Amino acid sequence: MSQITVHGGKPLIGRVDLKGAKNLVTKAMVAALLGETPSVLKDVPHISDVEVVSRLLELHGVIIDFHEDGLMSLDSSNVGSARMVDIDAHAGSSRIPILFCGPLLHRLGEAFIPDLGGCHIGDRPIDFHLEVLRNFGAVIEKLPTGIRLSAPNGLHGAKVALPYPSVGATEQVLLTSVRAEGITELSGAAIEPEIMDLIAILQKMGAIISVDTDRVIRIEGVSRLDGYTHRALFDRNEAASWAAAALATKGDIFVGGAKQQEMMTFLNVFRKVGGAFEIEDDGIRFFHPGGDLQPVVIETDVHPGFMTDWQQPLVVALTQAKGLSIVHETVYENRFGFTEALNQMGAQIQIYRECLGGNPCRFGQRNFYHSAVISGPVELKAADIRVPDLRGGFSHMVAALAAKGVSNVSNVQLISRGYEHFIDKLEALGADFTYSD
Ligand code: EPZ
Repeated sequence: MSQITVHGGKPLIGRVDLKGAKNLVTKAMVAALLGETPSVLKDVPHISDVEVVSRLLELHGVIIDFHEDGLMSLDSSNVGSARMVDIDAHAGSSRIPILFCGPLLHRLGEAFIPDLGGCHIGDRPIDFHLEVLRNFGAVIEKLPTGIRLSAPNGLHGAKVALPYPSVGATEQVLLTSVRAEGITELSGAAIEPEIMDLIAILQKMGAIISVDTDRVIRIEGVSRLDGYTHRALFDRNEAASWAAAALATKGDIFVGGAKQQEMMTFLNVFRKVGGAFEIEDDGIRFFHPGGDLQPVVIETDVHPGFMTDWQQPLVVALTQAKGLSIVHETVYENRFGFTEALNQMGAQIQIYRECLGGNPCRFGQRNFYHSAVISGPVELKAADIRVPDLRGGFSHMVAALAAKGVSNVSNVQLISRGYEHFIDKLEALGADFTYSD
């Protein structure tokens, strides 16, 4: 288990550069499975989620070449079935395998998907995914260690309505419908920028997809797809994380590769809290301009709302705002576990079952602690803490960097699931810490 020992209380100042978004790149790699010719993906970050997806693709015969600069080539010309025992070795390490279903059914007529991993931030069921696949004609068999799928009559376009605009289930529909016979109409789709970038990739491969108004996406199936060449969309979750780190540590961070368009909702909130930013052609400078930070009321939501992945690092900055802030988490039912460690460090955060500060959500009256009230400003104290999940873990690290004194943050390898070279980046920002593997 890796650990960092942080001498906190120093502002983070300097530059970090982003690569492609974790939540696009991993799906783009799966899309390559659909291509009969090789694909090239640029700006792929060196993170462990990319490693897991690479191993799974390689098990299915995809030849992958990955360079330090982020250039990845994926040759899916000779896809083949993998041994169940080899696939199973990856059980619990990522949520992306569920997206292999459609492409493997198209390429091989069958698929075995191991039990999924990912952050423990709620139940994270896969019922939407399974329902979607059944709509296309897949037959699903549940096994003790995963699921086995087949499509005895091929996959056919379908009319699909999602009960909630799930990112993963929308991607499931896209990756399955592009080569299914006939037309698919998806309503209730998620429309996150990462999904739009996946659609752009699929169009490059030969797919016919139109994004209509009101969360409706129409796909006309085609019989063959080729590879693509694509530069991945930047990681806006990482950008927001470093922005929050700049604010919480009274620092000044230039985030190379960040773009305004995909971050507008975040930028509005950042400004309301009292953070400052300057938008340049090659990135965004985020800094604490001095003076008091202001409390805010935020509700996380699907795009174009305030992303659920942005709240955890921002909550650390909100412990420094003068007054009461409210964060109502409406995407995941259990995403405030990380606040316990912050309270141990002197934060005053209370979590509630009620839908506070905005509209009632689907978690109201269901005993989920999904609203947080943050009272500030407080002086954060050093502590020994353990990283619980990806975004919560990043927020713990930021709290340790902001707190005066020496903190030990363990289990930090989890952060490398989604933040490329974060240890090097901390060094570049002048953080005072030691790292042990
Ligand atoms: C993606 O998860 C991201 N992960 C998440 O990022 C992100 O927080 C989330 O989208 C929302 O933007 C990846 O892209 C790998 P969902 P995903 O399906 O697709 C419920 C991070 O830190 N649901 O949109 O799994 C689900 O429980 C991660 O980078 C069902 O009920 O999210 C949740 O409440 C964490 N049944 C809601 O929908 C299903 O079958 C939204 O989940 C599927 C989802």
